[in-house]
Amino acid sequence: MAMPTDNSLFEQVRNVVTEPEWLLAKPIIEEIQALKREKNAVVLAHNYQHPLIYHGVADLRGDSLGLAREAADADADVIVMCGVHFMAETAKLLNPDRTVLLPDYDAGCSLADAITADDVQALKKRHPGVPVVTYVNTSAAVKAASDVCCTSSNAVTIVEALNSEKVLFVPDRHLAKYVERNSEVEILTWEGGCVVHEEFQSADIDALRADYPGIDVIAHPECTKEVQDSADAVGSTSQLIDWVEEHRPEQVAMITECTMSDNVAAHFPKIAFKQPCSICPYMRRITLEKIRDCLETMDDPVEIDPRIVPGARRAVRRMLEYSRVDS
Ligand code: 13P
Ligand code: SF4
Repeated sequence: MAMPTDNSLFEQVRNVVTEPEWLLAKPIIEEIQALKREKNAVVLAHNYQHPLIYHGVADLRGDSLGLAREAADADADVIVMCGVHFMAETAKLLNPDRTVLLPDYDAGCSLADAITADDVQALKKRHPGVPVVTYVNTSAAVKAASDVCCTSSNAVTIVEALNSEKVLFVPDRHLAKYVERNSEVEILTWEGGCVVHEEFQSADIDALRADYPGIDVIAHPECTKEVQDSADAVGSTSQLIDWVEEHRPEQVAMITECTMSDNVAAHFPKIAFKQPCSICPYMRRITLEKIRDCLETMDDPVEIDPRIVPGARRAVRRMLEYSRVDS
C-alpha cells in the first residue's frame, strides 16, 4: 500500500506508526482537526499519549507542569485534555470560564487513588504546623487540603521554597525520597506509588547495560530508589526528553511509560531507543475516536465541587508562582 508522498504528518511518525495504522487513523484525525476549528478548541497532550494523538492532533504537548502552564495560558473556548483526570481538573481550576473536556473519565491514576482529603487532614493533625506539598497527581479535593502542589519537574524547588525543616510530601513515596535526597529538608511521606514506574527493577537496567554496552539510561523519579540510583539521569518526562535532545546519545533507555519513547523516537530517528516496556492503562484509555466524540457532543465537561475550588486553585497557582523560573 503506497502512501501519498505529500503526507507530511505520516512522514513525521513513520518510524513509530505503521502504514495501515496511519491509514485507519487519518480520517479521524481530519475530523478532529475540523472540529477543533469549528469549536475553537485546543488539544493538550501529555508526553505518554499515543503518537497518533501526540503528533496527529495535539496543539500543545508536555509534562504535567508544562500542561498546567499551557492550560493557564490557553486562548480557546474549549480545552481537550489528552491525559488523565487530575490533569483535566488542573486545567479546569486554571480556566473556570472555559469548557474542559476529558475524552474518558476512567483515565485515572494509581497515585491519585492512593490518598484522600481526609487522609491529608489526619496527617496534618498528626504533624501540626508541617506544610503539606501535594504531588499534582491527586484529586482537586486533596489539593485543596494541602498548602501547595508540585510536579516531578519542580518538586525540589517547591519544597525548598517553603523554608521549612520538615515537609509532608504526598502521596508518592519514591518522589518524596528523591526530594529528600536532593534537598536539606526532612520529608514525611505516604505509601502511594505509580503502578507503571514501580514495575521497573534495577535488574532490568543491569540487563540493558549488558545487552547494549554504552547505553545511556535515564529514569523518572516515580521509579524506586534502586532504579534511580542505577540511572545516568533522573527527571520528569519533559526533562528526560530535553536530556535526549541535549546529549543525542547513540542509544538510550528511558525508564518511564514506554509510549513516550515512540513520541521521542519520531523526532530522533538516528537514536536507538531500548527499554523494558510498562504501559499506563489510564493514559491508554484516551483514543482518537473518544477525542472526536467528546468534541462532537461536548458532553460531560469537567466540573469541580465549588466548595473545594478555591483551595485547590490556590495550591496550583502557588506552584506556578514558585516555579516560575523552572524549566
Ligand atoms: P510528568 O509530570 O513527569 O510528565 O509525570 C506525570 C506522570 O503521570 C508520570 O507518571
Ligand atoms: Fe498515574 Fe503512573 Fe499513569 Fe502517570 S504513569 S498517570 S503516575 S498511573
